[in-house]
Amino acid sequence: MTMFTLKRALLTAARIKQCRFFSASQNNWNNRKGLVLGVYEKEGDTDSFDLTTAARSLDDAVSGKLSALLKISGPALKKGKNRIFYGLHEDFPCVAVVGLGKNNAGVCGSENWDTGKENIRAALSAGCRLLQDLEVSHVEVDACGDAQAAAEGAVLGLFQYDLLKTKKKTKVTPQLHGSDDVAGWEKGILYGEGQNLARLLMEGPANLITPTAFADTIEEKLAPYSERVTVHKRPQGWIEEQQMGAFLSVSKGSEEPPVFLELHYNGSPDKTQAPLLLVGKGITFDSGGISLKPPSGMDAMRADMGGAATVCATLVTAVALKLPINIIGLAPLCENMPSGKASKPGDVVTAKNGKTIQVDNTDAEGRLVLADALCYAHTFSPRAIVNAATLTGAMDVALGSAATGVFSNSDWLWERLHQASVVTGDRVWRMPLFQHYTRQVTDSQLADLNNVGSSRSGGACTAAAFLREFVTAPHWAHLDIAGVMGNKDEVPYLRKGMSGRPTRTLVEFAARLAQEA
Ligand code: BES
Ligand code: ZN
Ligand code: ZN
Repeated sequence: MTMFTLKRALLTAARIKQCRFFSASQNNWNNRKGLVLGVYEKEGDTDSFDLTTAARSLDDAVSGKLSALLKISGPALKKGKNRIFYGLHEDFPCVAVVGLGKNNAGVCGSENWDTGKENIRAALSAGCRLLQDLEVSHVEVDACGDAQAAAEGAVLGLFQYDLLKTKKKTKVTPQLHGSDDVAGWEKGILYGEGQNLARLLMEGPANLITPTAFADTIEEKLAPYSERVTVHKRPQGWIEEQQMGAFLSVSKGSEEPPVFLELHYNGSPDKTQAPLLLVGKGITFDSGGISLKPPSGMDAMRADMGGAATVCATLVTAVALKLPINIIGLAPLCENMPSGKASKPGDVVTAKNGKTIQVDNTDAEGRLVLADALCYAHTFSPRAIVNAATLTGAMDVALGSAATGVFSNSDWLWERLHQASVVTGDRVWRMPLFQHYTRQVTDSQLADLNNVGSSRSGGACTAAAFLREFVTAPHWAHLDIAGVMGNKDEVPYLRKGMSGRPTRTLVEFAARLAQEA
């Protein structure tokens, strides 16, 4: 062998070794385990901290190295702050430590939520995201004394709509760490996944999430539970037979066929138990119709089926949780488009209950599709009717994204929705159903009702007053979710995008109702 060939052989061997090193480390890279641990601010001492039970046991396992590192790496971790330590423990090359704020924060009367749970959701969401950005796919999560809130924070925080992007975020399946509350953890996973299902449908573009595609997605989600669930995808002919003239007046402007989605969940051991009726506005795209919306921001109207998405996701979650309750979900699904066949301002249509409506603004279409769905809901003699709808821009003006506006004819129902929302942190706030607003929608030149109020003021309230004209049930609540439809950065445990709110509040409400006789 010449000197030259020997050199070349050595070089090749070195290269092979280098390649092996790289591919081995690449493997490790993908398989690395991460851990998210919490720390509390110490009571009465802002410069110090208290470790959670799980953080303390890891600290013990590494002979106090974690607390030592926390002390030397910077000021005591405040709520919302976090730090990553590498190589601290041989099982966990990456440990994210997150600030939980004060221990046992509990329910805050003025904020109307459980601050302790909200802090856990926010902190663990941030910790999981940090590790996801480092491409750690196996992440264990400290329950921080509330495994359900921890799981919700992890699942909600990790969600990103990247279905249509070539480059996707690392898929992370969070696992419970250092707690035996498996039931609480699994419940939290289902609550979080429920909200994520609503986010998936709301964020999806309107050319993909058509009424038919929406109904098919929900049917697919419910397919594993066919012994307890029935799905009806009612076609246009059925909608015509039902004389849903208000719904049809909206759908007829579009080439896309409407679907009236009807879901039945029989979860109660008492087969005759009156069902909880959930109704959701399902406008898969709201262009405004002939009363066309301005182009800026119109893309957000792909989420105008947020009511349908949240109520269907609630039903899917109730089924997965095996809640002992009967629920019927209804979603009138269609597009609101301008065309030669579309409704024109001043047209008069007849709803299922025979009431006539003058359609002065075709952009006030949500109340039209809901009017017929509410009439139909009454045919099931329900225990209560709850409808959700991205109904008015005025709702966003009134409350912004802080809370869903609830208009209810029932103190009983309002109390239950409110109590549920304090626990989930996805808040509701009561709004009025005064005759003052009813007078504005019954003032019509040609018909029984006008689809817009005679005054521009109080738009969310006149819309609710309009819906009430189609309700005779004693326990009804209308949730206007237009203000909570999207998230910029207000909810710290949700990335930017369509929010899926208030799915968890509806699930919690149903779960609590299931416990009542
Ligand atoms: N889908 C909209 C309401 C909306 C606006 C939802 C912004 C989410 C964010 C609804 O159909 C609508 O256009 N309502 C009109 C009613 C008006 C014409 C009386 C509105 O709010 O301007
Ligand atoms: Zn509209
Ligand atoms: Zn709309």
